[in-house]
Amino acid sequence: MRKKVILVTGSAGEIGCALIEKLGQGDIPLLTLDLDPLPDDVAHLSTHIQGDILDESLLARLVSEYEFEAIFHLAALLSTRGEYTPEMAHHVNVDGTLGLLKLAAEQSEWRGKSVLFIFPSSIAVYGLPDRETKTQYARVREWEWNNPRTMYGSNKLYCEMLGIYFSKYYRQLAAEQPVMLDFRSLRFPGLISAFTTPSGGTSDYGPEMLHAAAKGEPYECFVDPDVRIPFMAMPDAVKSLVMLANTPVEKLNQRVYNVTSFSLSAEEFRDQVLQSFPNAQITYDSDPKRQAIVDSWAADLDDSAARRDWNWKPDYDMKRAFNEYLVPKIRQRYQDN
Ligand code: SER
Repeated sequence: MRKKVILVTGSAGEIGCALIEKLGQGDIPLLTLDLDPLPDDVAHLSTHIQGDILDESLLARLVSEYEFEAIFHLAALLSTRGEYTPEMAHHVNVDGTLGLLKLAAEQSEWRGKSVLFIFPSSIAVYGLPDRETKTQYARVREWEWNNPRTMYGSNKLYCEMLGIYFSKYYRQLAAEQPVMLDFRSLRFPGLISAFTTPSGGTSDYGPEMLHAAAKGEPYECFVDPDVRIPFMAMPDAVKSLVMLANTPVEKLNQRVYNVTSFSLSAEEFRDQVLQSFPNAQITYDSDPKRQAIVDSWAADLDDSAARRDWNWKPDYDMKRAFNEYLVPKIRQRYQDN
């Protein structure tokens, strides 16, 4: 008999580590998959497979051993990294997702019950043409400005569509309709964790600024002071993933939701960091190419659909995020090391 588990891919990454801490407290055992080993502090929470989501024989072996109640598919190459290796990003972000969707579709059919498929998407799916438009359309809704300018953003947007296809239309011409998977996706703003720094993203200047200040290291910010995007503290990212996963399907009026917390310019972010680390040396050395990517992202996300359909509300606004989560935990983290 196959063992029932929740699968988390990209489990050694930023969201992954935070999510498995939360899911590890639940009743269903965790199976985690990542190219890297899990950090020591969360390793006891799951059965970890060190491997590649693109390895078809590995996935086939997992299917033969496990029944997936839910899949949190977090593995991805982020927006800056993806621009250096666009084909590889496509391979990981799209082919990797397609493989897991197929696996979830087959298991849904085989067990006669939908596999829940949770997919983090991103603010990178938005592409506003210039700063004037960005100011004018400050809070974008899900269907607006879906014109990404990065490989990562394009991959995320397409995979949202693939997920919807597999939830609603997969094998639509077959004689008998299969039980389909249950795909749900969140579009995240820039995420900030007190414990990990992201790698290869373009919203990374926020977390990098903060972690450098806490370590007493100088930091050169790669975007202009006035560039503005939304951010969210990692506990809220985890909260939103778990809330969306737990929402009864009949309450969902859509499959893809914006979620956000607070919107800050780079200078406002710097001010917040300086309030807690007054000696921090944060200067600007804007990289026009990365700047252009952030300029194309919305200044804020309209998350009213998530608030309406499943009572989404972040716990951490800007003040609480810095004063009660980021700063104290980051101080503790670097003191402990
Ligand atoms: N944080 C991501 C990035 O910068 C956006 O989702 O690529």
